[in-house]
Amino acid sequence: MKKLLLLVLALVMVFGAYTAAFAAAKKIGISMPTQSLERWNRDGQYLKAQFDAAGYETQLTYSDNKNDQQVNDIDNMISWGADLLIIAAIDGDGLNTAMNHAAEAGIPVIAYDRLIGNDAVTYYISFDNYTVGVLQGKFIEAALDLKNAKGKVFNIEFTAGDPADNNAGYFFRGGFDTLKPYLDSGVLKVISGQTEFQQVATAQWNTDTALARAQNILGSYYADGTILHAWLCNNDSTAAGVTQALESDYAGSNAVIVTGQDGDIANLANIVDGKQTMTVYKNVANEAVVTLEVAKALLNGKVNGEELAKSFSVECAYDTTSYFTSPGHYTPSFLLVPTVVTKDNLDYLVGTGLYIKGEDGYLKAK
Ligand code: BGC
Repeated sequence: MKKLLLLVLALVMVFGAYTAAFAAAKKIGISMPTQSLERWNRDGQYLKAQFDAAGYETQLTYSDNKNDQQVNDIDNMISWGADLLIIAAIDGDGLNTAMNHAAEAGIPVIAYDRLIGNDAVTYYISFDNYTVGVLQGKFIEAALDLKNAKGKVFNIEFTAGDPADNNAGYFFRGGFDTLKPYLDSGVLKVISGQTEFQQVATAQWNTDTALARAQNILGSYYADGTILHAWLCNNDSTAAGVTQALESDYAGSNAVIVTGQDGDIANLANIVDGKQTMTVYKNVANEAVVTLEVAKALLNGKVNGEELAKSFSVECAYDTTSYFTSPGHYTPSFLLVPTVVTKDNLDYLVGTGLYIKGEDGYLKAK
């Protein structure tokens, strides 16, 4: 009798453990914008690896930078029974249909890196986007020693990102606001006259689009030998187009200061070669870890944002006043801290464990 009881008890325990394990296999839908821009490949890979290792079932999609496709991809994840959606939006204002479906099904949504303009967003996880632009502006301020211009005038041009991406305006404003005092005082001049976000924006952050606009500006305003001192590019995919244009179409012989963001491999090579001057690095492996921790807390039904942000091993601010999805509807946000990388501190990237330096001095992804 005692043996039988023990057997029953053992069976109950095994069954209990089985159902617990089964119940723990929550489904996570990860929707990334495109594989054509380097960073999203890394994001997708890191996010999937984090969630898989933590025992979740994951589905990862890339929507080829097509909004309709992303709506479909998200709808399919909802039908699949996703318990949580992690979305980096192609068009922050284009996902209402899918977001409404998620809300109806009671599925929480983490807006990943890019905010979505819909109140169904539960949390926003990103880097401090405005600061990214500020770092680019400050870099140019220091490199040209604008504080001590002493009557000198420097020429600058701007290239921003995709207007459909909520981040793009933040990056642009961060850089522009930082340099505005010098534009106002005449220390900095934009010879093309293109200083509005819509004029300098680049649809889909496309390299060829940035290249064509840069060629046009160089041909129209700098072909007579006018010196260009700096080109503030808000990210690496656009900087790649601008540096190409500078190589083929710039008449001057000075090294133009070019900014970027992301630490894309080709851009890091350009930094080694002196064609690009800096990149603002955002460790997306850390972004994935923070996302996993927020997701876990969310799925367990208890998120204390302040406490959670403090518990991370990486610096991350919990912010409830900077981002909103509709007037007055603020999105609780976890914002990581970006870092400036130049030729002089490329080893910082090697130190992250995500890059290795080849014998030729160029960095490769690990
Ligand atoms: C990201 C940047 C990236 C850009 C283009 C933005 O939303 O924050 O890191 O360079 O998209 O992919």
